Amino acid sequence: MSGMVVVGVQWGDEGKGKIVDMLAPDFDVVVRFQGGNNAGHTVRAGGVKYVLSLIPSGIVHPNKKCCIGNGVVLDPEEFCREMDTLIAQGVRITPDNLHISRKIHLIMPYHKTLDQARESSLGEDKIGTTGRGIGPCYEDKAARIGIRLGDLEDRDLLRDKIRAALKEKNVLLTQLYRQPPLGLEETLGKILPAAEQLCPFLADVPEIIRQCWQKGGQALFEGAQGTHLDIDHGTYPFVTSSNTVASGAATGSGIAPWRLTKILGISKAYSTRVGAGPFPTELMDENGQHLREQGAEFGTVTGRPRRCGWLDAVILRNSTRLNGLTEIAITKLDVLSGLPEVKICTAYNQRGEKILYPPEEHDLAAVEPVYVGMPGWAEPLSEARSLGELPGAARDYLKYIEELCGLPVKFVSVGPDREQTIIN
Ligand code: IMP
Repeated sequence: MSGMVVVGVQWGDEGKGKIVDMLAPDFDVVVRFQGGNNAGHTVRAGGVKYVLSLIPSGIVHPNKKCCIGNGVVLDPEEFCREMDTLIAQGVRITPDNLHISRKIHLIMPYHKTLDQARESSLGEDKIGTTGRGIGPCYEDKAARIGIRLGDLEDRDLLRDKIRAALKEKNVLLTQLYRQPPLGLEETLGKILPAAEQLCPFLADVPEIIRQCWQKGGQALFEGAQGTHLDIDHGTYPFVTSSNTVASGAATGSGIAPWRLTKILGISKAYSTRVGAGPFPTELMDENGQHLREQGAEFGTVTGRPRRCGWLDAVILRNSTRLNGLTEIAITKLDVLSGLPEVKICTAYNQRGEKILYPPEEHDLAAVEPVYVGMPGWAEPLSEARSLGELPGAARDYLKYIEELCGLPVKFVSVGPDREQTIIN
């Protein structure tokens, strides 16, 4: 009767979707608790590729309940598009296996326009957001002027709320950002068709999870983005607008924190980051190019090339502390094959002092990584199904990660398919 949280320990894109998909058969309910369609989780099963943005990765398994909790923000048009694509791929999605919280805030058309307009006005200082309206939607939530999914059930209330919101948003759009104003009917027209499709899925998510636990079931909480994109604990202001750390699973789905007994951190075997912000181990050389090409490091959501670098144990250590990790999974180990030497950053040098945890955000860009180099390996790893089948140098690399984090590596991913996973 417990819960496991899966979180990214770096800056997102660690391969959480694949691990959640692999773990899902052992759980009864899979829950998304924060973020929106800025996330892109890819799951490959039975030769089919499923791309999920908001719907929990557990949905591709029959007989699992999936929940989307109150901490999420939802773009109704995009959500319906994702649902329709999955249904066309043969995935069963009905109000029996997908439950969506009424407390979720809607990403409105003006949130997307404001997100993009603000980014272009920032020029060099931009954050590099996904442009999906995530930040402006969470702003309205905190300002208590947001529109929630539950409002879709009362059309008069919905109309009044949108009318009130447009009064303010249109001033911003036209006066500050020189954009055309949005009309009430036009905005409603974008929301209402999706509302029809969404309303049957609205549910009391905490109660569904409670019922699962009452029957002795297990719940899996699927994080999006990564620990260092957390609004409070990440590399602010180069972060997303939600709490991506494990404790966000409790507030973002309406369950007690003590239920979260296992916290699995997912890390790539190297580091990547999309968008702006400090990245101490970033590589601008042929090693970085190797990681980008071999790892196909291009964003699932925006297609942007990802920034690539060596594995950073300072970042992993910080994630262990912030999330209370109990175990880790290392993904994309196969991508390192072919590098003569692999490096891990074990500490930072900050003005001559060796530090083991990240400094204040504004100092992070100036630290120098302290590296330990290890021999690489030439062999491809994609066929390995046990630790014993890995070359000695790859096993040593994993052992050193365990030592640096003080945690067991429970899973190692050596390719995108479900089967390409080593369970330790
Ligand atoms: P936003 O979440 O669209 O506001 O973007 C804020 C920052 O988080 C930008 O640097 C994005 O590139 C980054 N980001 C948001 N979602 C993801 C994700 O799922 N993976 C990786 N980076 C992300």
